[in-house]
Amino acid sequence: MAKDKITVVGAGNVGATAAHIAATRRLGQIVLLDIVEGLAQGKALDMAEASGLYGSEQCILGTTDWAAADGSDVVIVTSGVPRKPGMSRDDLLATNTRIVKSVSEQIVTHCPNAFVIVVCNPLDAMVHAVARTTGFPSQRIVGMAGALDSARFRYFLACELDVCVDDIQCVLMGGHGDDMVPLPRFTSISGVPISQFLSDAKIAELVGRTRNGGIEVVNLLGYSAYYAPAAGAVKMAEAVLRDTRGIYSCSAYCRDEYRVSGYFVGVPAVLGRHGVERIVELDLDDSEKRQFAESLSHVKELVAAVDRIL
Ligand code: NAI
Ligand code: 2OP
Repeated sequence: MAKDKITVVGAGNVGATAAHIAATRRLGQIVLLDIVEGLAQGKALDMAEASGLYGSEQCILGTTDWAAADGSDVVIVTSGVPRKPGMSRDDLLATNTRIVKSVSEQIVTHCPNAFVIVVCNPLDAMVHAVARTTGFPSQRIVGMAGALDSARFRYFLACELDVCVDDIQCVLMGGHGDDMVPLPRFTSISGVPISQFLSDAKIAELVGRTRNGGIEVVNLLGYSAYYAPAAGAVKMAEAVLRDTRGIYSCSAYCRDEYRVSGYFVGVPAVLGRHGVERIVELDLDDSEKRQFAESLSHVKELVAAVDRIL
């Protein structure tokens, strides 16, 4: 049987790390693509040389040539500038819209049947840019952010309670910004609500840390996070390629779900062979609805800004 093919666009921090994780997970043959001559080639060669050491995928190609991406099953788009200390994700909008537009045009030509996972920021608006430029069915386009933000929340909870992170389930909604909406009411440890373990004040503190999870890393490193973001993107690629049908918080196109129509925004969705198999609708209370609506209005402003550029 032919191997699945995954193209990662952008061989920077997130892209190269995603390619490396996908190789160690043996998800299929990997194409790592960048505009900088030598960068993707060098990193891909280095990864391929590691394949004999711990049984990772050896079929990894680094390139600047989109022809190498022909027929990809999944494309992960990480080509975009990251933020620096003092910048918000929104400050990246104009530059990244132009990059994402040109990359999307190549995806249409070379990977017309691919499932596309967008990582560039500002996330929800960049997913819109890919959808508008490619014209692909919305089921085949998602943004990766909720997988990262919920992984951060789960990690903070696991540390606080000294329990295994694998046993923590959570859902997070809204745009990938400071107004994202972690949902403690839908967060549990092996099915037991976290309110049984933690005070409201402690939960609020960990929600705040999650909302600021991106900037916490930026302030430490001077540039943005990449290990956990790359792991989030590969996890979603795996869900599609292996038809796991897991529920992921991701930026998915809402038709009428949560009373949103015509926008990509963070919602829980089942991912499988066809991409976004369905969006899961939770019964939000008034406060959760209000927070989601506020986050959505911010996403709408960014989408309008993208539309003025495209
Ligand atoms: P980076 O600067 O390390 O890598 C970006 C790469 O894209 C560079 O190697 C650059 O040469 C390449 N590139 C630029 N234009 C290109 C084009 N037209 N075609 C192919 N490659 C091109 O940046 P990093 O840290 O990897 O971040 C990438 C993006 O992901 C940023 O926009 C960042 O804000 C975003 N991000 C989003 C996260 C999320 O949760 N959604 C988490 C972390 C980062
Ligand atoms: C993050 O949350 C930069 O969006 C990226 O780490």
